[in-house]
Amino acid sequence: MSEKKQRRSQLSYGPRNKDGFIHRSWMKSEGLPDDVFDGRPVIGICNTWSELTPCNAGLREIADHVKRGVWEAGGLPLEFPVMSLGETQMRPTAMLFRNLLAMDVEESLRGNPVDGVVLLGGCDKTTPAQLMGAASVDLPTLVVSAGPMLNGKYRGRNIGSGTDVWKFSEAVRAGSMPLRDFLAAERGMSRSPGTCMTMGSASTMACLAEAMGIALPYNGTAPAVDARRRVIAHESGRLIVDLVQRDVRLSHLLTRAAFENAIRVLAAIGGSSNAVLHLLAIAGRLGVALRLQDFDDLTATVPLLVDLQPSGRFLMEELHYAGGLPAVMQQLAPLLDAGAPAAATTTIEGHYRDAECFDSDVVRTLAEPVKPVAGIWVLRGNLCPGGAVMKPSAASAALFRHRGRAVVFASIEDLRARIDSPDLAVDEHSVLVLQGCGPRGYPGMPEVGNMPLPRKLLERGISDMLRLSDARMSGTAFGSVILHVAPESAIGGPLALVRDGDEIVFDGPARRLDLLVSPEEMAARAAQWQAASTDAAPARGYARLYVDHVLQADQGCDFDFLVGGSGSAVARESH
Ligand code: FES
Repeated sequence: MSEKKQRRSQLSYGPRNKDGFIHRSWMKSEGLPDDVFDGRPVIGICNTWSELTPCNAGLREIADHVKRGVWEAGGLPLEFPVMSLGETQMRPTAMLFRNLLAMDVEESLRGNPVDGVVLLGGCDKTTPAQLMGAASVDLPTLVVSAGPMLNGKYRGRNIGSGTDVWKFSEAVRAGSMPLRDFLAAERGMSRSPGTCMTMGSASTMACLAEAMGIALPYNGTAPAVDARRRVIAHESGRLIVDLVQRDVRLSHLLTRAAFENAIRVLAAIGGSSNAVLHLLAIAGRLGVALRLQDFDDLTATVPLLVDLQPSGRFLMEELHYAGGLPAVMQQLAPLLDAGAPAAATTTIEGHYRDAECFDSDVVRTLAEPVKPVAGIWVLRGNLCPGGAVMKPSAASAALFRHRGRAVVFASIEDLRARIDSPDLAVDEHSVLVLQGCGPRGYPGMPEVGNMPLPRKLLERGISDMLRLSDARMSGTAFGSVILHVAPESAIGGPLALVRDGDEIVFDGPARRLDLLVSPEEMAARAAQWQAASTDAAPARGYARLYVDHVLQADQGCDFDFLVGGSGSAVARESH
């Protein structure tokens, strides 16, 4: 093998000189024999396991099963930790750190002598962050996900992560659920390691990795504690060695066709609106031309096929037992590009060609979907020149067209202080407007877009209202919620100019979102507008880097200087 064609690991472990001595000798302190440095593929196992990320708590064991497969196929597995992002633990929001984890992954891969990588992620932001970082290096890459938790249980019935939390919380506020029951539900909701077992961002991204052919079939749905997930890990260990030997890189798999399939699957499964940001950011790393508008164009004809919370009734266990994502993709096949590449089966059709559906209540057909309208609506209008999104499958059809007067909150603190005030001038026709929660205004763009309804309306039995913000929403949440308004209010987007009592017109089927204020008045308000005091802006550290460089939501919230890739070239020696 010429020097040029040597694997990157051999540039470190091959030379019989001082540098080779250093690279090999210190590794031998881990008990590795001489012959594992003979040129075999070195596989990094990039692990986001952490006790502070309970959703990823099973990944230590999963890593061992990946290693078995790597050894068996003749590779050398080397596990390494990267930053972990626990959605339920990190403040102000795990999304603030998605790009930091992506940088960690990118530099860990490029700086170390690995030829391929298996990404072990799960909790919401870990999977997209790992894929963004890996995409900028472009080694052979596979995803093995943590897998969903077992179904939550409460008083003899199933309850879903997140989705039922929002419902129970509103029930307590409305006075219809005693606190004792609320705490009982807390104990029963999270019964095993694994990610949220609703179709939140974690299950969405695990399913999309599968749909794009960079994870094995059933990666998206097999429960975290199911032995089949260990088998997926084992087989992924074998496969990554094969991918290195054939030099099948991430960019060979993540083509435009793969993204298009992923977006259609996103609609069919009722996936998280956060996936819009993540897919845009991953595509940006790879130079794949993907635009916000594609999410609407590609999903306009895709109905909701999976009856799963938050858009439907069931949970991830039921989806897996019904046949998993292969059963869904088989139903969706007329709308998919069957020839898109896949790591395990050459084309993605191999994932679903022979699939079977075992429960037609959970996985429906194109002819009899759960809901005819799914996917992501991309809205345009004078309130959102850069676009805004809505997930119609989680919204109320009665609010798909709505005209109402704005009740404006300048920040999430302002909303919390006033939302339950008996004096708040609001009724069920009002549009709740939240400002200051976009990527720069509230660094990380927290999941507060599904703002709580006013208590006085809850007590009257109102269960949904049109809500509008530059924030995100948890993939487990539901409601008639318009999100990701761009440009955001903190940089003077039109959202910043909305005032109490302004009329807002939303027309979902026409994809319009407009403020009924004259252009002259808008211009006058814009001239008066002042950015919030810079005292609140982070002065230093990563958060400062974030606000200085984060892109708007319609561009995926990556950092401007991270778009694209730097490849996998091996850098100069260290000694
Ligand atoms: Fe981790 Fe939902 S909070 S997956």
